Amino acid sequence: MKGVVLAAGKGTRLFPVTRAVAKPLLPIANRMTIQYAFDQFGRCGISDVCVVVGESEEQMRDALGDGSRFGVDLTYVRQTTPKGLAHAVGFAREFVGDDDFMLYLGDAVYGESLAPFAAQFQEQGAANLNLVKAVDDPKRFGVATVEDGRIVKLVEKPAEPESNLAMAGMYIFGPQIWPCIDRLEPSARGEYEITDAIQLLVESGALVIPGVYDGEWFDTGTLDSFLETSRFLTDGGVLVGDGATVSAQMAAGVVIGSGATVVANRIENSVILPDADVHVTGDIRGCLLGGRINADQLENTIRYGEMLE
Ligand code: G1P
Repeated sequence: MKGVVLAAGKGTRLFPVTRAVAKPLLPIANRMTIQYAFDQFGRCGISDVCVVVGESEEQMRDALGDGSRFGVDLTYVRQTTPKGLAHAVGFAREFVGDDDFMLYLGDAVYGESLAPFAAQFQEQGAANLNLVKAVDDPKRFGVATVEDGRIVKLVEKPAEPESNLAMAGMYIFGPQIWPCIDRLEPSARGEYEITDAIQLLVESGALVIPGVYDGEWFDTGTLDSFLETSRFLTDGGVLVGDGATVSAQMAAGVVIGSGATVVANRIENSVILPDADVHVTGDIRGCLLGGRINADQLENTIRYGEMLE
């Protein structure tokens, strides 16, 4: 089985930080976000991994190289225009060839190993397994209807969900998915949806199964969810990287990147990027900060001050 990780998004919800640092490279608990994907591939015995990149290709290649430092062998492909997840997957087709592959959405972080799902896919001889999780607000997601252990219907962000099972950002496919991707039409939001491709697979009569996941699942794409993931991965504690200097009272949920300087009265529930230089007279609360910053007080803010060098 091969791995494909989608990492081409612009990360607009984390601007301006993601203008400077590509979202997959943003540190969470002082490791790059995409390393959590590599960890999961490792647990599943997957070493051949394709990263679908966008405008930040060069920064990604510089940071990740051939992947050997992370236990994976990386191939990069460039998604030329952002037209949806199924469109992005299409760029990995040559890399995947006739193999099975695990598709991992680059924003996702899981608290539990995904290895049991790779085993389930193989044991059941499925054409596709989709990680699903029961959620309170299924309308925000792709939603699966399950009958007798099979997915019988999938709808992307339904107005009236038939179940509470959300598509949770990890999919395993056999080669049967490719003709379905070829037949896709753009959705109401103008994207080629992976959910719609899988619905075509269901309609073809192929065995499509749910991988029901009960553990923690985070989508790191917004400030709130980014900080929540950070708190989870640090057990709510405080983490200070090598060579960082902090002159502030530190409360729970604080991560200071290596080489950063932080001067403030108090800092809580915030992430400071490596090498940042942050001077705040009052408190820092609920922030993601990088670069050179001077301010009185910072709350629930994403900010990146240009570095002078
Ligand atoms: C995408 C998928 C959706 C899935 C979600 C998981 O949505 O289209 O089916 O439930 O990821 O995070 P998007 O984040 O692109 O809106």
